[in-house]
Amino acid sequence: MRHLIDIMELSTEEIDELISTAARIIKNPMKYREACKYKTLATLFFEPSTRTRLSFEAAMIELGGSVLGFSEANSSSAAKGESVADTVRVVGGYSDIIAMRHPKEGAPLVASMNSTVPIINAGDGGHNHPTQTLTDLLTISQIKGRLDNLTIGLCGDLKFGRTVHSLIAAMSRYEGIRFVLISPEELKVPSYVKAEHIKARGIPYTQSRTLEDVMPELDILYMTRVQRERFFSEEEYLRLRDTYILTPDKLKNAKQDLCIMHPLPRVNEISTAVDSDPRACYFEQARFGKFIRMALIMKLLEVEDEN
Ligand code: CP
Repeated sequence: MRHLIDIMELSTEEIDELISTAARIIKNPMKYREACKYKTLATLFFEPSTRTRLSFEAAMIELGGSVLGFSEANSSSAAKGESVADTVRVVGGYSDIIAMRHPKEGAPLVASMNSTVPIINAGDGGHNHPTQTLTDLLTISQIKGRLDNLTIGLCGDLKFGRTVHSLIAAMSRYEGIRFVLISPEELKVPSYVKAEHIKARGIPYTQSRTLEDVMPELDILYMTRVQRERFFSEEEYLRLRDTYILTPDKLKNAKQDLCIMHPLPRVNEISTAVDSDPRACYFEQARFGKFIRMALIMKLLEVEDEN
């Protein structure tokens, strides 16, 4: 039985295969309408979500399966003090696969150690968000046609943004990648992420405080939200939250085929005036999330792709 807790548990070949399966689903969704018939997905979300939970549920429904679950800790027996280990032991009796989001880093790993069904980490604290990374990789693959030889600018909250950490880990395995890390001093990529992935693989990278200066170099611009829920001080959050706001004016020197991404939700970091720019890919990115989760559910349930 396989779980998915960290994106690095998947080999590059497995990621490429998931992207290929998702691409086949995008082209021919009707062929997959019964791929997971009689299977049930449980979504255990101890923290808020729109895209991840609903795209997981839509994915299972479009594969012909069923869904159950909860969307906040207070509507589960976690509110009475039940442990994550006990929760998944019980829910494993009602479902074939579980997607779990939890504010505590490591909670999905604990769940996987106590579960009789596959566990998918749907985001744990500021740590990991592997299915967002799979979504990001599918988006880059669909829009740029490749996952190698790209200059990727990551902008905003690079400290608490779990999607950033997982994306750096995953993209570091491809040839010809260069990172441009754009953040204020207080929200820089943690040293362990740089050491484990960027430095360990000798990936070229630069760090910048300003977005405009580096814009012309970028093939991908990955904007992120400043993660209010991870700050200890509201004052510090308010001071940093609007450091970067992407506006049409700031895109004047960008490449014509720049791909602007954002895991969403956005708060203020991309002006809505950018939405009509053909380089804005973030809503398409959210849509791709459903297809890659369909491919992942099939893989973890060991459903053959007959197409
Ligand atoms: N990108 C993402 O994880 O969005 P949600 O928090 O809405 O699931």
